[in-house]
Amino acid sequence: MKGVVLAGGLGTRLHPLTKVINKHLLPVYDKPMIFYPIETLINAGIEDILIVTGGNHSGDFLRLIGNGRQFGLKHVNYTYQEGEGGIADALGLARHFCGDDKMVVILGDNLIENNIAQAVRDYDSQSEGGKVLLKKVHDPQRFGVAEVEGERVVRIVEKPKEPKSDLAVVGIYFYDPRVFEFIDRLEPSDRGELEITDVNNMYLQRGQLTHSMLEGWWTDAGTFDSLLRANNMVAESGANKL
Ligand code: DAU
Repeated sequence: MKGVVLAGGLGTRLHPLTKVINKHLLPVYDKPMIFYPIETLINAGIEDILIVTGGNHSGDFLRLIGNGRQFGLKHVNYTYQEGEGGIADALGLARHFCGDDKMVVILGDNLIENNIAQAVRDYDSQSEGGKVLLKKVHDPQRFGVAEVEGERVVRIVEKPKEPKSDLAVVGIYFYDPRVFEFIDRLEPSDRGELEITDVNNMYLQRGQLTHSMLEGWWTDAGTFDSLLRANNMVAESGANKL
């Protein structure tokens, strides 16, 4: 299984913090933000990793992550997203890297407390389709939100004004290579991006999207408040381990 970390985009919600630093290189407690999603993949046994960067300061990723030795990796792959065409646009750049393999995709600003090893095992035994992770949140308007009927997810809505549930779609996705066919069919959304939520809905329409609940805390770090929360959560969970 391949791993893809999406760290493109311009991080404009964090201006002026991100004017001369790429968002994913900002500190989260004692490490740069991008270290956390990379470690999430490695902790789940995924070591064939592509990092999609973009924006003005993408050269800094190379200086920071280098050849991956500090993570115990033999090699790291990089590619560059031109512009800010959305999460699905960034994932489209992983087509040749993934080839015929299934993949775990993680957003570069998503941090989790635990690990995704069980979800990776479950997805490994899923013959085709995709899988998403859900988490109860108090501010679902900020996320892709799953509409559920019983145990079934029937639709995912991106940043709904009136969310039908409090189940956010976490920025960790499991896909088969068909994802690239779906990306080819996408049209830009109202915010001018190719939306990963549209991809997930394409899998749903074919009855090919499974889901499970993510245990432990989860946060993004793309706004001032969530960046602060990420710092605090990492600091507190470190303190708990003492
Ligand atoms: O954090 C989970 C949420 O992430 C999901 O619940 C939403 O469904 C999903 O759309 C996304 O929402 P955001 O609006 O918060 O995503 P954002 O634009 O902040 O991008 C998140 C990461 O995705 C970012 O840190 C890097 C990557 N990205 C984003 C864009 C727009 C790219 O690599 N390229 C891009 O063009």
